[in-house]
Amino acid sequence: MSNRPYYIAGNWKMHKTRAEAADLAKALVAQLKDGKHTYLAAPSFTALETVGAIIKGTNIRLGAQDCACEEQGAHTGEVSVLQLKDLGVQTIILGHSERRHTYQEDDALINKKVKLALQHGFEVILCVGEQLSEREAGKAEAVCETQTVKGLEGVSPADLSRIVIAYEPVWAIGTGKTATPEDADVIHAHIRKVIGRLYGGGAAEKLIIQYGGSVKPENAAQLMAKENIDGALVGGAALKAETFVPIALFA
Ligand code: 13P
Repeated sequence: MSNRPYYIAGNWKMHKTRAEAADLAKALVAQLKDGKHTYLAAPSFTALETVGAIIKGTNIRLGAQDCACEEQGAHTGEVSVLQLKDLGVQTIILGHSERRHTYQEDDALINKKVKLALQHGFEVILCVGEQLSEREAGKAEAVCETQTVKGLEGVSPADLSRIVIAYEPVWAIGTGKTATPEDADVIHAHIRKVIGRLYGGGAAEKLIIQYGGSVKPENAAQLMAKENIDGALVGGAALKAETFVPIALFA
């Protein structure tokens, strides 16, 4: 076991009206108040203000699911880091596989967002992960390495302390298929080695690497028992307190 803190984050994706988000946030505040780990809720942009007001001053951080790559300007439909800061957002999830593969975000764009978010004082959860065809071709480690290296290009050693990496194998997201704890740990260890090469062993040892992809109450503890798995980025199971709380309080 490492002495890194566990960090359990809920990515609510494009779900919930403000009223529904408020109900979930209130349940999480009540049920996680004695939780010992680090927690985050990332609702849709439209529910950030509502959820932020409910979790303010609690042990749950407020996260956004993306941001624009520019501070402000003529970018119809985008949301700026300045607007997220104004809402009290602390953390921004970047490079999620749905952004990479459904909306064609590439490593260069993600890297621009990562640097902008860091420059504005946010914590960043940088998501990396291979597609099924890449895993079957034996390229999982190489793909995650490239996404890590390119995503962090130009990030200073000082700013690395505000980076969390989430390993989310694309084939495990929303499919019910989880990577085995052993398979996930191999990739987490590889990412840590890459960070060691770029930033030194001390920084690599401190880096939080979350696993994401069909995390459920039934598999959370086995995943988290692995040396290099320091938490979870949870999608579907984060939408209800009855499934997120057991993950967040895993024994
Ligand atoms: P699921 O937990 O629904 O597989 O989603 C994982 C994810 O994409 C979290 O960001």
